[in-house]
Amino acid sequence: MPTATPVELEAAVARRRTFAIISHPDAGKTTLTEKLLLYGGAIHLAGSVKSRRAERHATSDWMKLEQERGISVTSSVMQFEYEGYAINLLDTPGHEDFSEDTYRTLVAADSAVMLLDNRKGVEERTRQLFEVCKKRRTPIFTFVNKCDRVGEDSLKIVSDVESDLGIQCHPITWPIFDGNSFVGVYDRRLDRVHLFGRDEHHGSTRAAELVLPLHGADTAKRLGDEAYGRLMHDIELLDAAGHPFDREMVLSGELSPMFFGSALTNFGVEPFLREFLELSPAPVPRESTQGPVDPATPNFTGFVFKIQANMDPRHRDRVAFVRICSGKFEAGMEVGQVRTGKRIRLASPQQFMARERIAVEEAWPGDVIGVVDRGNLRIGDTLAEEGTMEYSGVPRFPPEHFARVVLLDPMKRKQLDAGLRQLTEEGAAQVFFTSPTEVAGPTPIIGAVGMLQFDVMLHRLEHEYGVRCKLERMGGKSPRWVVGPQAEIERIGRERGRTVLYDATGAPLILFEDAWGLRWTLERETSLKFYEAAP
Ligand code: G4P
Repeated sequence: MPTATPVELEAAVARRRTFAIISHPDAGKTTLTEKLLLYGGAIHLAGSVKSRRAERHATSDWMKLEQERGISVTSSVMQFEYEGYAINLLDTPGHEDFSEDTYRTLVAADSAVMLLDNRKGVEERTRQLFEVCKKRRTPIFTFVNKCDRVGEDSLKIVSDVESDLGIQCHPITWPIFDGNSFVGVYDRRLDRVHLFGRDEHHGSTRAAELVLPLHGADTAKRLGDEAYGRLMHDIELLDAAGHPFDREMVLSGELSPMFFGSALTNFGVEPFLREFLELSPAPVPRESTQGPVDPATPNFTGFVFKIQANMDPRHRDRVAFVRICSGKFEAGMEVGQVRTGKRIRLASPQQFMARERIAVEEAWPGDVIGVVDRGNLRIGDTLAEEGTMEYSGVPRFPPEHFARVVLLDPMKRKQLDAGLRQLTEEGAAQVFFTSPTEVAGPTPIIGAVGMLQFDVMLHRLEHEYGVRCKLERMGGKSPRWVVGPQAEIERIGRERGRTVLYDATGAPLILFEDAWGLRWTLERETSLKFYEAAP
């Protein structure tokens, strides 16, 4: 029986913010995460998340770490509080551990922060993650980082992001430079200037700041004529030529509020955090097979967006990450797995705070809990206290790397098939075949979004299924699923020596080596339809 009153539920929903940071490696995600935790009081001295990044840099270290701790520390959810808000920051694995999980995490987020390096603007990885957010109409906030060192002109960054990604931007904070020194930001919405004080802690503690009205008598004097003049000029330009702020457009992902700062020195981080929390959405109704489900409805519901296997072979259990969509969760509660109709007791759920696992007694819509699972749950599963509604599934994302699985002991074929089936169901791998009738034929091919996924698969096949394999990497980075006459599809494969594969459902896809070859084919083969993901 639900124990939370509607008022309690509504209050819990209203103060929750669940988001992920999307960025290209080295833009400063780890540093910004750490600073957000610092401001949220979750850590006292910045520097502790950093060591986590160093730890996960080498593949072998990562494996060792997994084994020692018996649970992944690489992908987690960090929960912290700030000025009355309960914040869930979903970690998006980004370096070697970039994988389908990174994309899936975005499905569980209510908004995203797109972090850019002020010299590099939009980079490849950012673009890929942005596209996933855009398709889902996720609100996107942009933070331009590293303003403490000279970068591109700020106005140029705004127009580059707009033209590059096809999204409108509205700077909320604007950087103030004194010569080349980054001295503060102006908040256009609140019409006030934040001036930063240089501290001696190199960003390990909160930045001291002085808040002044833009037109205050003291402001021009403190900034100096040149810096103040430049700021006034920029603001005039933004007001005249920029896109006006529009809350509705922010919430539908068409307009990105933009912020400038430096995660390293903390400058601009707190003004960003405050505005972000104010402007970003609390959990909103989610689509289901029975219409949108309001988060404040008392019936507990949620969906599994990620399953983390235990890398320790002595512990076969796995952790399923559940995003709560409605109702209150209480430890030990029994819920239905809608796909199978089974009832499951959520006995030892956990929440994740930086490196710690904490037992949860209760959790609310927007929160993520980790549930220990013995292999029953799948990605996309809906869990509901009552009813048969299901959330629209977690989509599959196209792999970027392909490899043939070569069995080192041919007698172990059955185990290999069982292992691949399990890994596919869990979402840890995607399996393909070289002919439509050859499902379970001699050479399965696996696809992965990130290279580390391959290492994880080999490791798990060997330790959990006793199958030793090696992988032969294949060319072809951009797969396209094809719909059309079979003979035509095979012809394209033959003529250009391209690889045609079939996914686990028998749907054909062609691997393209490069963007040029892909474009060439798309322009010519008009009788076929090409899709980036399985249609
Ligand atoms: P990531 O998680 O997105 O990969 O990036 P991370 O935070 O690890 O930052 C990548 C590099 O950029 C680090 O430097 C970090 O110190 C630096 N960085 C992050 N934010 C800022 C910023 O606001 N300004 C400046 N100037 N640099 C920033 P590194 O030399 O690779 O590492 P380290 O030696 O500093 O640890």
